[in-house]
Amino acid sequence: MIDVVLGLQWGDEGKGKIVDVLTPQYDVVARFQGGPNAGHSLEFNGQKHVLNTIPSGIFHEHCINIIGNGVVIDPVTLKKEIEKIAAAGANPKQNLYISEKAHLILPTHRLVDAASEAKKGEHKIGSTLRGISPTYQDKIGRSGLRIGDIISSNFKSKYDTVVSHHRELLDRFSFAYNLADHEPAFFDAIEFLKQFQIVSTEYFINNLIGKGKKVLAEGAQGTLLDIDFGTYPFVTSSNTITGGACSGLGVAPQQIKKVFGIFKAYCTRVGSGPFPTELNNETGELLRQKGFEFGATTGRPRRTGWLDLPTLRYSIMLNGVTDLICTKSDVLSGFAEVPVCDTYDMNGKLTSEIPYSIQDAPIKPNYRTFKGWSEDLTGIRNYNDLPENFRLYIDYVSQQVGQKMSVISVGPDREQTILI
Ligand code: GDP
Ligand code: IMO
Ligand code: MG
Repeated sequence: MIDVVLGLQWGDEGKGKIVDVLTPQYDVVARFQGGPNAGHSLEFNGQKHVLNTIPSGIFHEHCINIIGNGVVIDPVTLKKEIEKIAAAGANPKQNLYISEKAHLILPTHRLVDAASEAKKGEHKIGSTLRGISPTYQDKIGRSGLRIGDIISSNFKSKYDTVVSHHRELLDRFSFAYNLADHEPAFFDAIEFLKQFQIVSTEYFINNLIGKGKKVLAEGAQGTLLDIDFGTYPFVTSSNTITGGACSGLGVAPQQIKKVFGIFKAYCTRVGSGPFPTELNNETGELLRQKGFEFGATTGRPRRTGWLDLPTLRYSIMLNGVTDLICTKSDVLSGFAEVPVCDTYDMNGKLTSEIPYSIQDAPIKPNYRTFKGWSEDLTGIRNYNDLPENFRLYIDYVSQQVGQKMSVISVGPDREQTILI
């Protein structure tokens, strides 16, 4: 049996925190796509931890953590991450497993990412510059290197072949670089990773499922950044939706039971691309300050706006969400009014359907406005103790998207969670 946790917006919905909260009910947590473009934060005992590649179940001793084949791995980042979590008391040598089929991010993938973004100028995607797109391009182009290659005796010659292709690309971009600045750390990290459990995670995970173990698949990014259904081309390079869990772990669709879909009580986005309910004003700035909306990976300020129901309905449909989770509810306290976008007004016609290109469509968000509330939500642990105006807001959202709320998060800490 496998349940899935994923984001329903443009990432940073609080997946790390929710996975950490749910982990006691599971034996295994597995990441199925993305790479170190992700930054998943979790907090307990007054300490905050940010994970990029490692699953968010790593701080629970009983839990097996798997980095699946669908993930792209930067050895240098992963080494740093492993060292950090080990220092914080986790035991990655014992409970971290890495797929031999996960693709490797090479130093030149990062350089090509930087060169490609620089070339795009004002049309840039706003990539995290972690080499994600070039690595997935090589995977799909059937020329990538995988974790399993690092133990092969001719790894260096395979590496050189891929790098010579990247050098040609970089020359075409006229991009200045010095690979010698990056290679020592890369090869050092490759050696370091050899001491961890590198396995056929598809066999491993299916064996565990066969023994009745419970698996939680952890998505990265969010549905609106999905390569197929997101706001293309302003997306990431993997399938972030439920289907990605099957291909990114090697599990059959009928194994999937619950799908936990997470959304923030408002919206944020980092990087470029359309954002219909964006607030380019003082209210947006206030949301950013109150929600501390700065990227967990890059530190970039996140763009902010009101909750958008057309995209939320779309995400719920694509993922087959069974359990809805609302995070950052506490951030909305203190606003006089809380608008929510019901539908899009396209030249006078109201629609809830996402157009082919949000960017080019004449979208005007059609808002329904709720009265605000001033109570601090962070100490509340029961749904019935939530302020009435907040309940009116969240019940409306629930009714509009046709799904009950399972969890309401009222702060970054594990404990600041209302289970319904
Ligand atoms: P992820 O990428 O989906 O795991 O989310 P991030 O960790 O990038 O961003 C979410 C941020 O919000 C982190 O700083 C979390 O600690 C924080 N957070 C998560 N849930 C809540 C919540 O309910 N309230 C508040 N105030 N912060 C939260
Ligand atoms: P988590 O898992 C928010 C965004 C980038 C950029 C676009 C493409 O923490 O929610 P990429 O580096 O993948 O080529 O960038 O996607 N992006 C994210 N935004 N949260 C993330 O991950 C993201 N990962 C990528 O900002 O707009
Ligand atoms: Mg994040």
